[in-house]
Amino acid sequence: MKKVLAIALSLTLSLTLSMGFCFLGNAPAQAQSMTEAEVSDITAQWKGSAHALADVNCSSCHQDSETKAFVGKPDNESCQSCHEAETDTFLLGKHGIRRLEGQSPLTPAKARLPMKAEAHGQQMNCNACHNVHSVDTYQASVDSCLTCHNDEHSLNYKNSKHSQLFLAEGNLARPSNASVTCATCHLPREASESGSNALVNHNNTYTLKPRDRMASDVCMNCHGMEYAFNSIFDNELVKSNFAQPPEMHLKSFDMVRVLQQKREGN
Ligand code: HEC
Ligand code: HEC
Ligand code: HEC
Ligand code: HEC
Ligand code: HEC
Ligand code: HEC
Repeated sequence: MKKVLAIALSLTLSLTLSMGFCFLGNAPAQAQSMTEAEVSDITAQWKGSAHALADVNCSSCHQDSETKAFVGKPDNESCQSCHEAETDTFLLGKHGIRRLEGQSPLTPAKARLPMKAEAHGQQMNCNACHNVHSVDTYQASVDSCLTCHNDEHSLNYKNSKHSQLFLAEGNLARPSNASVTCATCHLPREASESGSNALVNHNNTYTLKPRDRMASDVCMNCHGMEYAFNSIFDNELVKSNFAQPPEMHLKSFDMVRVLQQKREGN
């Protein structure tokens, strides 16, 4: 066991050194500005990641699989080969559809909704939400969204009971099924085909259209049907990001109750 670990470590070290050499020696212009400290910071983030555990190393992403050429700033394509389902779903939602259609990537400058001014030029891709070296999904679940989104609903999340639940869990590598993040509602988890891992549906339009899809696919994992529907169709409650229990009463539930009483009376 110890021997295996030592071999893994020395492999990591030599890979890191050769990467370091690439960046500090004959690297492309943009990468040349990296200091040794920055490269070792990146290496430390990677070492603590799910990728390091799974033997996904620097060259898995920084080397073109065909030409074997060194790639300084890999794009979505570097993720796609291993994460096909995440990429496919990403391309179907508002965030990714421009790429699917061969247009320039979505940026906050193109948005109708309010966005953070400093994010206006940020291109939407996997890196927009994921730190590609730590691949820590905790940061991706809320903080990454708020680097761009600046509307009332998004900003109010931090005042919600849902946010308290999330914060109370502490910084796990991955939020548990009991917490509610932006991603819980907008990038919902689905059972993967292998059954062992959650697959995150990266289509950020999926739970919005039709709106009641979110009630059944997300809210009802934890709340009753009536509570979920009365919340989701209340625009003010959505704007406050669910800061209080629902006060709205959808008439259809009363009708169902009357029907049920009639049936039981017969
Ligand atoms: C999962 C894929 C992946 C792995 C593994 C990976 N990288 Fe990266 N790396 C990227 C991507 C994607 C970018 C471009 C990020 C961007 O454009 O914001 C990048 C950028 C960089 C940069 C440039 C950062 C900058 O701001 O210009 C350096 C340096 C780097 N990686 C070093 C490494 C080293 C060293 C390792 C191994 C310890 C490594 N990477 C492992 C995907 C990866
Ligand atoms: C060579 C294959 C490979 C490449 C390339 C790759 N990954 Fe991964 N990735 C994996 C494996 C294996 C895992 C761990 C098992 C799993 O969760 O599926 C993983 C896990 C992850 C996780 C979950 C981390 C966690 O803590 O659960 C994220 C997020 C992720 N990868 C994002 C990316 C992004 C973004 C890129 C591109 C910049 C990328 N991956 C490139 C193979 C790869
Ligand atoms: C790089 C900036 C950026 C990041 C990061 C980002 N978004 Fe977005 N998002 C956008 C832009 C731009 C739009 C399009 C808004 C518009 O057209 O008005 C958008 C649209 C959306 C929409 C509306 C989709 C629709 O079909 O109308 C949802 C929901 C959403 N984002 C959720 C999220 C969540 C959740 C996160 C974090 C997990 C996130 N976003 C991270 C930029 C970003
Ligand atoms: C809008 C932000 C956002 C974008 C863009 C994004 N992700 Fe994610 N991704 C997340 C969040 C948040 C999670 C964790 C959600 C959870 O576990 O509840 C996640 C989880 C993952 C996971 C681990 C869960 C799984 O499905 O196995 C992988 C792998 C992953 N993303 C890959 C990618 C790839 C590849 C891309 C680009 C095609 C990408 N992501 C683009 C926010 C994003
Ligand atoms: C408990 C579930 C839930 C959480 C948590 C949540 N949202 Fe939403 N979000 C909704 C619902 C419901 C809507 C409204 C859908 C509609 O208008 O059809 C919505 C709408 C949106 C929209 C689209 C607004 C529009 O007018 O098109 C964006 C963008 C968005 N959310 C981003 C976020 C971000 C960012 C976070 C975290 C900071 C977040 N949401 C947290 C449920 C949630
Ligand atoms: C993972 C479980 C979970 C999911 C999924 C979930 N919630 Fe919640 N929600 C909770 C918990 C726990 C509370 C806090 C209950 C309490 O403190 O009384 C809560 C509280 C609320 C509240 C009341 C807030 C307050 O201040 O009293 C509303 C409204 C609400 N949720 C709506 C929704 C809607 C709408 C959805 C789906 C879009 C949803 N929730 C998804 C677990 C969840």
